[in-house]
Amino acid sequence: MSSSERPFGVLGLIGLGTMGRNLALNLADHGTPLVVWERDTALASLAREALPETTIWTDGPAELAAALPAPRAILLMVTAGPAVDAVIASLHPALEPGDVILDGGNADARDTARRQAALAGSGIELIGLGVSGGEEGARFGPALMAGGSHEAWARVAPALNAIAARAPDGSPCCDRLGSGAAGHFVKTVHNGIEYAVMQALAETYDLMRHGLGLSPSAIGDVFERWNTGPLQSYLVEIAADVVRTRDADGAPLLDKVVDQAGQKGTGRWASFAALDYGTPAATIAEAVFARAVSAHAEDRRALAAGSPGSISLGLDDLERALRASTLAAFVQGFDLIAAADAAEGWGVDRTAVARVWRAGCILRASLLDRLADAAGQAPDGAMLLHAPDLMSEMQDVLPGLRHAVSAAALAGYAAPAMMSALSWVDGMTRARVPADFLQGLRDRFGAHRFERTDRPGSFHADWSGS
Ligand code: 6PG
Repeated sequence: MSSSERPFGVLGLIGLGTMGRNLALNLADHGTPLVVWERDTALASLAREALPETTIWTDGPAELAAALPAPRAILLMVTAGPAVDAVIASLHPALEPGDVILDGGNADARDTARRQAALAGSGIELIGLGVSGGEEGARFGPALMAGGSHEAWARVAPALNAIAARAPDGSPCCDRLGSGAAGHFVKTVHNGIEYAVMQALAETYDLMRHGLGLSPSAIGDVFERWNTGPLQSYLVEIAADVVRTRDADGAPLLDKVVDQAGQKGTGRWASFAALDYGTPAATIAEAVFARAVSAHAEDRRALAAGSPGSISLGLDDLERALRASTLAAFVQGFDLIAAADAAEGWGVDRTAVARVWRAGCILRASLLDRLADAAGQAPDGAMLLHAPDLMSEMQDVLPGLRHAVSAAALAGYAAPAMMSALSWVDGMTRARVPADFLQGLRDRFGAHRFERTDRPGSFHADWSGS
């Protein structure tokens, strides 16, 4: 085995913030020697207390590169954006052909593709590494989604497989999911789905709390019960904890939390990508818009028209509504990955994506096993609803979604994730949609032309009404 094929024995790590420090501890626990650099002295001393004494500390990118045996592997855990460009620029002169940089931040896949293109021909490779699972995942087992060449991956895979979460069958939730920026794109879509599922959970909470008048502890019990059935997932599990948590005075803590949700960009990027690739990932985009609605707090208070009242809805229907919205969010995300992959040629296997998401990541859920099967059933690249088992699951839960959406709409509750999920399913399962009418209008005002159902060709008509 030549040195350019051997797994890396030592790993360089730049950035020891929360995620970097916890990944470093995880790597150290699994026997990977580390050479590290952290610019911030407070963060560096926090990490120094926890990392093994054998860790080699350096003063900057060039020193770090010099302290590593060639060929080098260097994991960047720095804030996504310009900081990644700056670190790569300062590392570059100290690197050699065969070296591999891994970017473990939540990078925009377009930035990763740009950086990979800039390094092309230098013999230095950049792997975009999606890391999910938050602080705890990083420390004890994240899900890892890589994009890059087979050769570079083969050399970093042993160290990363060792620290990744394990699926119930024991396999590591860590894989090379395709070439180029595939890893960061899959992570972006993961986060888009995360936004959509969280929004559906928030709407479910709202309907239970205000529409059905349930107490926070009763809602916690409902989430806990649902978490033992088909909705079993990390997000439903923590939904029960969040709604039950009380402040020091015994009041529900949620009632004292400002109702404005933050966002760092990944949900937006997933939505931009859906628009760019022409994929109807409406529930993901609606979840981003729902955060934007939340951010317009002053407008909402000025325009407030009173609180919506009670609704008549069974908890079984609400559970089905949440299942249908969750399923819609995942299917839209997988369709988005397929569309991006068809355009970019990364070679992503959606079954592998579902398998990597089974443990460690925020989306971990029993549904992932069913999605992995569906990805195998659906023809290559086809929308996942073509998988018969998934479609039949959707048909089973759809009546509950209709009831929940009707109840919410009639009482005046905004439920954009649920409502968009229903419109998406109804649109995708209708052979003929009113786009004929849109074409008529487009041709009427702009001579945009249209195709006919009864003969080939492109047509313009006189739409004067007679
Ligand atoms: C994860 C999470 C993590 C984080 C995102 C989204 O997979 O561990 O997705 O990446 O939650 O940063 O954060 P925002 O909600 O702030 O956009």
